[in-house]
Amino acid sequence: MQYTTLGQTDIEVSRICMGCWAIVDPQTWGPQDEEDAVAAINASRAAGVNFFDTAASYGDGASEELLGRVLEPHRQEVVLGTKLLSSCNRRDEAIRECENSLRRLRTDYIDLFQIHWPDRDVPFDETAEALDRLLEQGKIRAAGVSNFGPKDLPAFLDVMRTEVNQIAYSMLFRAPEYELLSLCEENDVTVLCYSPLAEALLTGKFESADDVPAGRARTRLYSTSRPQARHGEPGAEKEIFEALRRVREVAEAEGVPMAQLSLAWLLKQKAVGCAIAGARNERQARENAGAADLDLSADVVEELSRATDAVKEKLGPNLDMWQADSRIQ
Ligand SMILES: NC(=O)c1ccc[n+]([C@@H]2O[C@H](COP(=O)([O-])OP(=O)(O)OC[C@H]3O[C@@H](n4cnc5c(N)ncnc54)[C@H](OP(=O)(O)O)[C@@H]3O)[C@@H](O)[C@H]2O)c1
Repeated sequence: MQYTTLGQTDIEVSRICMGCWAIVDPQTWGPQDEEDAVAAINASRAAGVNFFDTAASYGDGASEELLGRVLEPHRQEVVLGTKLLSSCNRRDEAIRECENSLRRLRTDYIDLFQIHWPDRDVPFDETAEALDRLLEQGKIRAAGVSNFGPKDLPAFLDVMRTEVNQIAYSMLFRAPEYELLSLCEENDVTVLCYSPLAEALLTGKFESADDVPAGRARTRLYSTSRPQARHGEPGAEKEIFEALRRVREVAEAEGVPMAQLSLAWLLKQKAVGCAIAGARNERQARENAGAADLDLSADVVEELSRATDAVKEKLGPNLDMWQADSRIQ
């Protein structure tokens, strides 16, 4: 396992973080056996993962509750990152919601507390006031943001320090490369990549876009004709499945699973601290953690970038995976 620190803090985290959304949201992700979820958390820890990502909104608090239950005996050894409910960016709401997360997580401090999404009706300095107070009180060790683009990030940094920016980034969703990664690097803000496997596309499990469950096929990667898609864009299905054929060939030549190769590619990118990989069971958790032991050569990294360039071009710089009218500015 490789480790890094978050922003300018001394909080040391594994570069593979376990994402804990899919284990509690069957509507989007399909049925989940709780024993498998617990096994995934334990297998992650056993493989050196000390960083777990959750949010108040995942399963209406169920993800935080599950993590709290499983990780309580190991609290000192793990780093818990959670996110504020997106509708609660006002000062008093943020403070109240932090208390609720603390209770669900069964802890008296949260290592990393992030604004989940910017709210256009709430000025940044109002949420920052709440975060500052929580820092002073020791209820959170570090403050962070998520889904902040090249306009919002500097505006937020003007009022308060953020240690991380959690954004969608994978070989099949490279919008952050246009502008945001450089900005994060210049400001010492660690990039945490969500959906690093493009919601399982990069594991090679789907033969075609028709095989992808509707809840996942609603992102801009897919055609707007997919049942739950609302973005009105053509998507990049043809380019994606062409790219995946090439990624598979590279994975076979390297003798590693596609998921590991894809995560290892991400860990080589500018400003990237961690990949937040969603795992549903022990096998997936172990495989994902193993990505941090791969050291891809510059040639392989370059080859994989070339394989997905057409997808990058088709989807463009919009950082919002779901909407054409980007919420990420
Ligand atoms: N800040 C935000 O706004 C935001 C948004 C989205 C996600 N996130 C965070 O990022 C985390 C990860 O993102 P994500 O869950 O959207 O997508 P992801 O990590 O790209 O994909 C997760 C899915 O990939 C499959 N998978 C994972 N490891 C595998 C392996 N080794 N072999 C085969 N299949 C594997 C599983 O699919 P199956 O279910 O088909 O088995 C799993 O549900 C979330 O859990 C959450 O913590 C944050």
